Amino acid sequence: MTTPSPLSDLGIVPDPYPVYADLARREPVHWSEGLNAWAVMRYADCAAALKDPRLKAERMEEVLDTKFPGRPLPPDSIYHRFTKNVMMYTDPPLHDALRRSTQPGFTRTAHEHYRQVIGRVAADLVASVPEGAREIDAVSMLAAELPVRSAVHAFGVPEDDLAFVIACVDTLMTYWSGPQDQPVELKRLLELLADLHAYALELVQGKRGKVVPDTVIARLAAAQDDLTETTPEQTVHQLVLLFIALFAPTTPGSLSSGMLSFARNPDQIARFMADPVCVDNTANEIVRYNASNQFTWRVATTEIDMGGVRIRAGQSVALFLGAANRDPDVFERPDVFDLGRPNSGKHLSFGLGLHSCLGRQIANLQLKWFFTALFARFPGIRPAGEPTWNPNLEFRYLQSLPLRLS
Ligand code: HEM
Repeated sequence: MTTPSPLSDLGIVPDPYPVYADLARREPVHWSEGLNAWAVMRYADCAAALKDPRLKAERMEEVLDTKFPGRPLPPDSIYHRFTKNVMMYTDPPLHDALRRSTQPGFTRTAHEHYRQVIGRVAADLVASVPEGAREIDAVSMLAAELPVRSAVHAFGVPEDDLAFVIACVDTLMTYWSGPQDQPVELKRLLELLADLHAYALELVQGKRGKVVPDTVIARLAAAQDDLTETTPEQTVHQLVLLFIALFAPTTPGSLSSGMLSFARNPDQIARFMADPVCVDNTANEIVRYNASNQFTWRVATTEIDMGGVRIRAGQSVALFLGAANRDPDVFERPDVFDLGRPNSGKHLSFGLGLHSCLGRQIANLQLKWFFTALFARFPGIRPAGEPTWNPNLEFRYLQSLPLRLS
C-alpha cells in the first residue's frame, strides 16, 4: 500500500511550506494520488515545465473526467466550446491568436489609465473604513471589495450586473478549484456557463448595463470589427474567461495575505513607508511569499523525464508555483517576508511564458495602490486574532482576517 501524499491533507493549507520543502528535498517530482498528477516542487522544474511545448495547456477533458468520471459531454456542449476556445486552455497557434485578440484591452496606454483609476478606487476604499474603527475583518471590508470596485471602474463590468456575474463565478469556481469534492452538479455548472455566455454576448452587443468608457470591456467591444484572426464567438469566450479570472479568489487572496504578512512583520511596514524602492517591490514580494494560485496544471504529450521520474504521455503534472517561490536555490532565506529582496520579481505566481497572467499588471496595480492608501491612513496594522484559510490548496486564500488598526 502506498502512503497518501501529504498534499492531500487540507490541514496543511494554513502553512504548506514545510511540507513543500520536505518534498522538494526527498521527492521533487512526487506522485499525488489525490491530484492524480505528478506534483512538481522545485523552481527550476516548474519554470522549465511552463515553457516546455511537450506539456500542453489543453487539459479540460482530463479535468472533466476526474470531476465527473464516465460523464463525457458532446463536442458541441458549452463546456467544450468554451474550454477549447479560451487562451488559458489552448496551445499555439490558437492560443496566440486568442490572446492577441484581447490586446486592445491591455495596451500600455490602457494600463496607464487603469493605474489612475485603481489608485482612486483604492484610496476611496480605505477612506470608507469608518472613523474610530479599531478592529475589522480585513477580508470582507477591504480585500474582497477592491477587486469588485476595480472590476467596475477598470474592467467595465456594469455595476448593476455585479450580483449576477459574481454569483455565477462563485459557483463555477467550485469546478475550477482542484480535485476537491464537487458540491455542484454538472447540469447546474453547464447552465451557469451558458448563462454567463449569454450575458457576455449581450454585453458586447450593448444590450446590458452601462460599461464605463476606457475600460477593458469597452476597449474590447470597440475593437471587435477589426479582428481578423478570431471569430465573434471567440471574443465572447474570452470575456467569460476574463469574468472568471476577475472574480476568482486570486486578487482578494493576494490582498489579504499581503495584509497578514505586513501585520506579522511590522518592520516591513516601516520599510514600505521609508523607501520607494520597497513600495515598488511590494506586489512582487507579497505574491512570492504567498501565491494565491498555489499550483497550475499541464498534460504531457509525450514521455518526459523530470526530477528523476519518467512522466508518461497523457499524465498530468501539477506545477507548484507556491513551492517554487520558496525554493532556497533561487530565493535566499525564502521563508522571510522581505521587501528589500533583490529578486522577488522572479516569483512564478503569475506563471511564466506563453500563458503568463494577462491580468498581472492590473493585479500588481491593485496591490501597490491598496497598500499605499492603507499605510497612509493605518500605518500600524496588527493581527487581532487567528485568520481563517479557505480549505483549498489550489486556490489558497483567507476567508477572514481580524486586524487591529492604528
Ligand atoms: C493576484 C491575482 C492573480 C493571480 C495570482 C493570477 C495567476 C495566474 C496564473 C498562475 C496564470 C497562469 C496559468 C497557467 O500558466 O496555467 C494566470 C493566467 C491568466 N490570468 Fe491571472 N492571476 C491573477 C489575476 C488575474 C486577473 C485580475 C485577470 C483578469 C484579466 C487574470 C487573467 C488571466 C488570464 C486571461 C490568464 C490566461 C493567460 C493565457 O493563458 O495566455 N488574472 N493567472
